[in-house]
Amino acid sequence: MTAQVHVIDHPLVQHKLTLMRKKETSTTSFRRLVNELSTLMAYEVTRDMPMHEVTIQTPMETMQSKLIDGKKVVFVPILRAGMGILDGMLGVIPGARVGHIGLYRDPKTLVAVEYYFKMPTGMPDRDAIVLDPMLATGNSAVAAVERLKESRPRSIKFVCLVSCPEGIKHFHSVHPDVPIYTATIDRELNDHGYILPGLGDAGDRIFGTK
Ligand code: URA
Repeated sequence: MTAQVHVIDHPLVQHKLTLMRKKETSTTSFRRLVNELSTLMAYEVTRDMPMHEVTIQTPMETMQSKLIDGKKVVFVPILRAGMGILDGMLGVIPGARVGHIGLYRDPKTLVAVEYYFKMPTGMPDRDAIVLDPMLATGNSAVAAVERLKESRPRSIKFVCLVSCPEGIKHFHSVHPDVPIYTATIDRELNDHGYILPGLGDAGDRIFGTK
């Protein structure tokens, strides 16, 4: 199996990412941009979604036409920064269910510690899309997907905005079956687990906590 990484290089995505990266971008603008960027990424992430045919009546005649079953999709934001991507995604698939995984990074060891886990019922029929803006060490993403796999969703995709080679390598060494969707693969991870050049602490920038 080839582990997949999809870099979404659409000009609109790259433009908004550049504005988000800038140090002087305010919390208000950052939040709006992260929302817009997530909506754009949702188009790519849902490109191969299964569809079914329904019979509809146009003003002209009856036809067979296609629909996505939005109720089969479950977005799984990793708390708390993943919540920043959720609204933009729900804008495209309003019928999606939402599961939550609460993880924090131990500041000393950078290891992911779980404090919350809640999924909707019927997971084996659902396609899960895990959300976290930054794929840095990969520890949280690996732990979240490991835990999610216990509920046996039909498929799993991982969506982030910024990733780095170290995080991708770690994630795919444990979950080669889970494709990654990212707007960029940045240069490197620093010794404190931050991505360079990155955009700083995504959670702090979304929620204005710094
Ligand atoms: N989490 C962040 O918010 N930013 C990074 O650069 C790495 C992890």
